[in-house]
Amino acid sequence: MNYDTIILHNGNEIDKKTGGLSIPVYNASTFAINHVEGEPVYEYSRSGNPTRDALENTIAALENGFRGFAYPSGIAAITTVLLSFLKTGDHAVFPADIYGGTFRFITKVLPDFGIDYTFVDMSNALNVETALKPNTKVIYLETPSNPLLKITSIKQVVAIAKRNSILSIIDNTFMSPYFCKPLDLGVDISIHSATKFLGGHSDLIAGVASSKDETICKRLKFTQNTYGSILSPDDSWLLLRGIKTLGARMKQQTENAIQLAHKLCNVSWIKTVYYPGLSSHPGHEICKDECSGFGAVLSILIDNEDKMETIMKKVKLWSTAVSLGGVESILSYPWTMSHGSLPTEEKLKRGITRSLIRLSVGLESPDDLFNDLVTLF
Ligand SMILES: Cc1ncc(COP(=O)(O)O)c(C=O)c1O
Repeated sequence: MNYDTIILHNGNEIDKKTGGLSIPVYNASTFAINHVEGEPVYEYSRSGNPTRDALENTIAALENGFRGFAYPSGIAAITTVLLSFLKTGDHAVFPADIYGGTFRFITKVLPDFGIDYTFVDMSNALNVETALKPNTKVIYLETPSNPLLKITSIKQVVAIAKRNSILSIIDNTFMSPYFCKPLDLGVDISIHSATKFLGGHSDLIAGVASSKDETICKRLKFTQNTYGSILSPDDSWLLLRGIKTLGARMKQQTENAIQLAHKLCNVSWIKTVYYPGLSSHPGHEICKDECSGFGAVLSILIDNEDKMETIMKKVKLWSTAVSLGGVESILSYPWTMSHGSLPTEEKLKRGITRSLIRLSVGLESPDDLFNDLVTLF
């Protein structure tokens, strides 16, 4: 079946009791059990809820996983997954160019658990190999990276992980499962901030994860329940509804991003456009090989940071906000927003300067978006 069809018809779209074309929100905390022997299907909503189940099964279908899991935020998915597999004395390898909240967790929390880490530039997979230690238990990927859209070869990093029997985990938020299926490329666990493209409407905070491996899923099921890291029935329903239009949104938003990226390349005050869809972008060929689209996020480097104030104040169509992946275009300033929690020297080391802007392209006309930004100067 075509993926566009699977998004809408994967066995989790119709309420089995009523035939409703929308899964009801089961706002029950607990379920009546009227038998002594045997496992009840539902018992208590932390351990299982019919609305969350429909969502988690949909995620598994979209990622070609054995099981899916839904968490109360993307960062909850990331922290729950990492703390399901890392323990005191372990070491993990992370990409230097990583979401700021994940960086904060790695640098401010993992050390409290006696967990060691190394950041590397993963656009060269050899750096991953060099960073390995005898106690390395996890290799974590985020590609395209945030905010510089650096591309990591998932295949090459997976080969290193498999050769060394190390668990691989990816943050697949930017591509969404529509354009990238990391589990099919051999990654053990795929994670998303579903707040972004999966939800798609800037109206909820959620995270998801999935794996093809039954043993990994068993562990994730255990930690989700044990840590209490669950998505509510209301938000599960909202996310299910958002996912129904994932294909249409991803295709159009990416088409808009491609058009916009090309036009921005010719603007005199924009020094660099970072977008994997540009043939000049390092990693463009890898992205073409491993993903079926280039996504709808790009970043631009402007010639003078003094322009930032005017841009933030004067753009009308771009919402100046944290986040990305919604149907409305968002302009964000990584220096103070997504990467505000990184110390200045860490930001500069990663190429995140006061002149860098991240653009999440929505469904508006790319011509209008271009004019809104470019006619400011
Ligand atoms: C790539 C990436 N991963 C994870 C997160 C965290 O997700 P959430 O805000 O849903 O906790 C974000 C948030 O911006 C992100 O951009």
